[in-house]
Amino acid sequence: MLASRDAEPLRWVRVKVWDGWVRLFHWALVALVAFSWWTAQTGRTGWHMLSGHAILALLLWRIAWGLVGSETARFSRFLRSPRAALRHLRTLWTGLPKTGMREAETLGHNPAGGWMVVAMLALLLAQVATGLFADDEELYRGPFADWIGFEASQRVTGWHQSLSDILLAAIGVHLLAIALYRLRLGRNLVGPMITGTVLLPSGSHGAAQPPRMAPAARAAALLAAAAGLAGALWRFGGQP
Ligand code: HEM
Repeated sequence: MLASRDAEPLRWVRVKVWDGWVRLFHWALVALVAFSWWTAQTGRTGWHMLSGHAILALLLWRIAWGLVGSETARFSRFLRSPRAALRHLRTLWTGLPKTGMREAETLGHNPAGGWMVVAMLALLLAQVATGLFADDEELYRGPFADWIGFEASQRVTGWHQSLSDILLAAIGVHLLAIALYRLRLGRNLVGPMITGTVLLPSGSHGAAQPPRMAPAARAAALLAAAAGLAGALWRFGGQP
């Protein structure tokens, strides 16, 4: 407990900001992206394709959860104007203003982080989609490469490789932003992505109105549907 300016003790309350499903999505995604990179580097083609389909299931689930999931997971909540994103980014240099930045703006993804999420999801989707049609003539042949013909699938293979470089760069920026938040604003973003909670002053807006979490059954049903779709694609692509 800390003392506030007028010597009133400042109480802290623990507020849930990320549901378990978003956290599971994030850390499973990290593991699968690392695994996909490693299997691509070491020529483990079968595992690479399986991992790509698993990432697709995660992405389909996350898009659905962005529409009907918990409040902090919803696109409508965290997608703000590019101007708001730039204004927020500026705080990395100037520090957070004492007033003016509503707490609601920073509970969950901030306006800049929101665009990072969309960019990351779009990049990952493009990575998976190009993988389905790629053919490198050596080890790897995407399940739908035949559909578009040899020349086109060669082109798509080039895009798949370039996208993986862009994705690596984006992950670097993602980690740099998280480190800058810690160093410049003193905010630990990683802890909440692990525990799901943040500590807020009891009188604050976020403590009084914590974000609404969607039912677990809805998340589980969507995950089953997303896994079913990715699995159907896997079978349709001729995989065992
Ligand atoms: C393969 C590497 C990674 C990818 C593809 C990735 C992707 C993502 C995505 C898509 C989100 C949005 C989550 C959502 O709303 O569903 C996110 C958020 C986040 N990631 Fe990662 N991530 C990666 C690695 C990491 C690592 C290694 C860390 C920790 C050091 C990390 C920490 C976070 C944090 C703290 C957030 C929440 C940011 C916020 O509060 O707005 N990520 N990441």
